[in-house]
Amino acid sequence: MAWRTAIGTIAVVITSIVTAFWLINEPARMAAAEEGFEGRSIEAGAYIYDNNCTRCHGPKGEGLPGLAPGLNIPEMFDGTRLAEVGWAGSLHDFIYSTTSGGRPLPSAGTTYPLRMPTWSREFGGPLRMDQVRDLTNFMLNWGQAYEPGAAPKAPEVAVVPVDSVGTDLTTPELPPGDTTAGEELATALGCTACHTLTDVGPTWLSEADPNGEGIGARAAARIGASDYSGTAATAEQYLRESIVLPDAFVVDGYPPSTMVMNYGEQLDAQNVGDLIAYMMTLR
Ligand code: HEC
Ligand code: HEC
Repeated sequence: MAWRTAIGTIAVVITSIVTAFWLINEPARMAAAEEGFEGRSIEAGAYIYDNNCTRCHGPKGEGLPGLAPGLNIPEMFDGTRLAEVGWAGSLHDFIYSTTSGGRPLPSAGTTYPLRMPTWSREFGGPLRMDQVRDLTNFMLNWGQAYEPGAAPKAPEVAVVPVDSVGTDLTTPELPPGDTTAGEELATALGCTACHTLTDVGPTWLSEADPNGEGIGARAAARIGASDYSGTAATAEQYLRESIVLPDAFVVDGYPPSTMVMNYGEQLDAQNVGDLIAYMMTLR
């Protein structure tokens, strides 16, 4: 029965070869599965970031002036930030634990008007631990852009200051504003974080105003009010004054100097024109 032995031997050899190939490829398969898992985690983190973090840290993690620091910045990934706060652990642990616990108490020297909220359920926040892990993977992934040899990819900034608008309400004369550009700018600069999403500043929306007036309608009424002490003569000038000289008139019930005080230096005449045009549509 030599032919039986021969077939048996051939079968064993074939099985061994197939098994060997399978084993050789196993690490690659594991790596691919792991990469796929990490990719899905980063994607999930991006979604959670969009829904919870952009209003303070900006759509691309660039930070919003006066509201919250940038996270997608080279200093976060080259060790500068960790040294600044005296963190001895890894960047992963810094991001994970800050996101989990937040900074509910003002840290020394901070001037941000809103606190960094607590996110993880462990500490009483709204997110599960795996969601905080996804967020952390998403933020760590930004770091690839800053690795040596990577093409320099600075976070895009929404506003390029061209010249300062100054505090004179009549010069420079503002160009006609574009309402769509103004709406985008109001989100990118974080105005809406204080004025429509939270009540850190007076709402711009009529539905949320006790008198049912949006900022566009209220602006004209403000300059007619007996306690108005600014110098604006029109609704548009009142809005401009509110942006470049926030303390010229402080709305009742709000502390002075809460608004970012140097918008007049950051924005150009077109930016301010666009913002005013947009606010005038909110009636
Ligand atoms: C209400 C505004 C607000 C929201 C929303 C917010 N943050 Fe923050 N975040 C802050 C402020 C303000 C700080 C700085 C706090 C300080 O040091 O005083 C901060 C700090 C941080 C830091 C530490 C940065 C550093 O350099 O020390 C991380 C990481 C962070 N936030 C992640 C997130 C993530 C992730 C989300 C979304 C899940 C988020 N934040 C949502 C306001 C916010
Ligand atoms: C950190 C929170 C914060 C941010 C960011 C912010 N504001 Fe304000 N804003 C306030 C507060 C608080 C007041 C009320 C106190 C005052 O009058 O200065 C106010 C007042 C105003 C008023 C007058 C409102 C009224 O009812 O008469 C206007 C207009 C205004 N802000 C526009 C803006 C624009 C435009 C931006 C973005 C370029 C902006 N704000 C960003 C907090 C903020």
